[in-house]
Amino acid sequence: MGKIRVGIAGTGYTVGMANAHVGGYRRCSEDCELVALYDIVPGRTQQWAKEKGLDVRSCKSFDELLEQVDAVSIVTPNYAHVPLVIRALEKGKHVLCEKPLSTNAEACREAVRYGKVTDRVKMIGFSYRGIPAVRWMKQEIDAGRLGRIFTWRETLGGCRIANPRVKLEWRMQKDLSGTGALADFGCHMLDLCDWTLHGVSGEIKAVQGMMSTTVSERERIFETGMGAVTNDDNAVFNVKFESGTLASFVASRLGVLRHTIEVYGEGGMMLFRDDRPNEVEVFFKEKGGGYTGSAQTAAVPEELVSEPWFDSEIEEFIDCIKTGRQPDRSFERALYIQEILDRILESGETGRTIVF
Ligand SMILES: NC(=O)c1ccc[n+]([C@@H]2O[C@H](COP(=O)([O-])OP(=O)(O)OC[C@H]3O[C@@H](n4cnc5c(N)ncnc54)[C@H](O)[C@@H]3O)[C@@H](O)[C@H]2O)c1
Repeated sequence: MGKIRVGIAGTGYTVGMANAHVGGYRRCSEDCELVALYDIVPGRTQQWAKEKGLDVRSCKSFDELLEQVDAVSIVTPNYAHVPLVIRALEKGKHVLCEKPLSTNAEACREAVRYGKVTDRVKMIGFSYRGIPAVRWMKQEIDAGRLGRIFTWRETLGGCRIANPRVKLEWRMQKDLSGTGALADFGCHMLDLCDWTLHGVSGEIKAVQGMMSTTVSERERIFETGMGAVTNDDNAVFNVKFESGTLASFVASRLGVLRHTIEVYGEGGMMLFRDDRPNEVEVFFKEKGGGYTGSAQTAAVPEELVSEPWFDSEIEEFIDCIKTGRQPDRSFERALYIQEILDRILESGETGRTIVF
């Protein structure tokens, strides 16, 4: 097998997540080669390739890109994911699609349906699973280190668009993005929590959500005048697992300084902060007793460390293609998370706890 030929659709103008994908493919350059780019805005790929020093083909259409590659990263706004995913699968390509898979569960179902009739790799970009500290927390929890889990508390967000003068982006519009902070950050948080606790705590059985929009209008990007922000800047939500474990989440695109996770159980507690991705603060209880002494900082085992941690997503995608396996971060997984997010939205809109 020669090198896997890879393409990227959507090179970026807001966050530019495609930058991270390029880094990952460079890291896997023994097995793959980035050969083609496509962006719906003419000229954007040429400029981007030049800035990055990439010698790749800039394609005029997505179909032209698909003719050049074995696999594609889809890094466009959320509403565009599913049509591109389906086209790539129809053409027999392996697909790594950025999260969330789409703007709602119904659209995700369509991608899952198409995915079932092909053996190509179908992966969703739940990149935060690459954080070494979280991987270690999951390992320890699966091994029973914390026993029964009582609570999980997580915060995630950012402050890039805290300034109300930042213009109206696709992610601030419900038809293009789905929900706002809830989709953007909530899908990562929910995936991490359920991935880490599922073995011990079982299924999620109830949700509650609340959302708010702080900056209700912003200057339009491509036209003059102001436009409405039609989804949430902030989201808080709770979930309850089968075992009784309670999890609580705060997401905001207007100001969360740190991604943090605190998890408490029978055996003690663990704390992750994103400024220390290779460490976990732990405070374990004495067997059959309580807490004595003080919390300690534990270094994550060397084999779980990946620098930068995002690259482990690309490594897994390439490994899946090489070995013919499907990733755990599958389209089915993306749908499962989206279904829960849709119920959190329903809770926010109705003011009810949704039990299922
Ligand atoms: N994993 C993460 O942590 C993470 C972080 C940021 C963004 N994302 C996800 O990555 C995706 C892209 O976000 P971003 O902030 O990088 O976007 P962006 O706004 O920076 O760039 C999107 C690019 O897609 C292009 N585009 C739009 N429609 C297209 C189409 N139909 N075909 C081809 N190109 C098209 C745009 O011209 C633009 O260049 C989103 O789904 C977002 O949720 C993931």
